[in-house]
Parts: sequence; C-alpha cells; structure tokens
Amino acid sequence: MSDSMHDPMHDPIPAPTPPGSTRLRWSFDDIDLQAIERDVVAPRDDIFLLVCSASFIESGTDLYTRNLLAYFDGDDDFGAWLREQWEPEELQHGHALRSYVEHVWPEFAWNDAFDAFFTEYSALCTLDELEPSRGRELVARCMVEMGTTTYYQALNAICDEPVLRELTWRIRTDEVQHYKNFYQRFLRYRRSEGLGRGQVIAALWRRLSELRRSDADIALRHAAAWRWRDDPMPPALQDVRRQVFDRMRRQYPIDLAVRMIIKPLQLGPRWQRWAERPLSALARRVLLN
Ligand SMILES: [Fe+2]
Ligand SMILES: [Fe+2]
Repeated sequence: MSDSMHDPMHDPIPAPTPPGSTRLRWSFDDIDLQAIERDVVAPRDDIFLLVCSASFIESGTDLYTRNLLAYFDGDDDFGAWLREQWEPEELQHGHALRSYVEHVWPEFAWNDAFDAFFTEYSALCTLDELEPSRGRELVARCMVEMGTTTYYQALNAICDEPVLRELTWRIRTDEVQHYKNFYQRFLRYRRSEGLGRGQVIAALWRRLSELRRSDADIALRHAAAWRWRDDPMPPALQDVRRQVFDRMRRQYPIDLAVRMIIKPLQLGPRWQRWAERPLSALARRVLLN
C-alpha cells in the first residue's frame, strides 16, 4: 500500500444509506482507459488471470444479491442498502475490470468466457449455500469482503500499471466499506439471535475454508482456458494457480486479514492480544497455502 493512500479500514462505520439515495463513491467515468500503459501490462499473464477472474465474480453479483434479498426479506433498510449501494458498487467493479481487460487484451471475447463461467458458477449460488441464520450469514459476508479487500490490496501491490493501481485501490476502498456495513448489521442480529462465539467461529471457519476454492477456481479456470486456448499442452490448473498466487502471497496484507477475521469475535483487548499471534499463524495457513 502506498503511504499516500488513505486506509479506510480506520474510518468510522458509515451510517446506513437511506433508501433511494444511491451514493457510489466513484464512477466508471473516473477511470481513464486511454491512459493505460498497455506495453507494461499486456505481457503479464498473472495480471490478466487475476483481473479477469475478478471481473467474472464481480459481474455475477446480481445472482447473489437476489439470494441475499430473499434471505433478508422484511429487513427493509438493509435490503435497500443491498439493492441501492452494495449491488451497484459490485457490478461497477465488474464493469470497470471487464473494460480494463478488454482494453488491454482486445482479442479476448469477454462475453463468451463469462457465459461459460456463469453457467458453472450460478449452480453454486443457491439459497442452500447461505448460513442457517441471518447473523451467521452476515459473518460469512464479512469474510467475503475481507477476502476481496485483501485480494485487491495484494493485486494493487503487484501491478505496476498506474490505471490498474488506481482502479484496484478504489475497489479495495469500497470492499472495506462493504465489510463495515455487513459487520454493523451482524452486531444487530448477533444480539437478536443470541449468537455465541462458538457459532460465530463456526460460520467464520466455514466461509474461510470456502474462500480458497469454488468461486475463485472456477473463474481462474475459465480465464486460463482462454489464455492457453491454442496450446496443445496447456498447464495444469494447480500450476497456474500456484504461479499466480505466489506473487500475491508475498504482498498479502495478512495483518489486515487477521484484524478483519477476528473483529466479529468481539474479543476484549487482553484476549485479542493473546489470540492475535496464533490466529495470525492459522490465517497464514488457511489463506496463503
Ligand atoms: Fe467488489
Ligand atoms: Fe464487496
């Protein structure tokens, strides 16, 4: 992270957005695609795969929003925030990343590749995939936003193309705010559902172990299929995965990840100090292996 960049993780939690007042923090028009230094980025397979996978997952958000809206039916101001702020921001992430990919790799048929990805991905996104209570689902959503925040921060650190750096930082900032909104809602349901720490840990654990596979692997596989489409001996997915994530791993903001993972446990300062080290080691194993 560059020092000049403000870290929104330390901002106070924003007030929930009132219905009918969508306020996106930035617009796609703020991104100057013409300024992209293509020569710098076009030869980088790792950047293609990481940006392309992210564009697929972000663009599939509307499917997940429908499931979440159904699950939180009756919680009107949260539903309004999901519909009017969260979903438009996630879709804007998808749109901006897609435009970036199409600008740098114009021969890539994004739509066709996305269709193939989406057919497989949508089968995974069903109501059955949600946690057994709203409070626990909100813990899971916090973990997803932790995953995206740290993904874009690491991606920001490994790319040296200025437009992509700016874009990934803007997205990363949105993901932190998403985390905070889900977290604030979690606190409310935690009280009403009387959730104990054990239940929170179980929800954390389930979601963290899923973060490592499923969505990201499907997206990566579809991006890699195009990248090596003319190659009679394409590399194995796990080799591609290892190579791509090795670089990310070195820049991965593990301390930030740990802070975001343990926040829903609401440990007192003494417990937190005690738990941070072993949790950090555990998080390293879960997230970085
Ligand atoms: Fe996003
Ligand atoms: Fe998000």
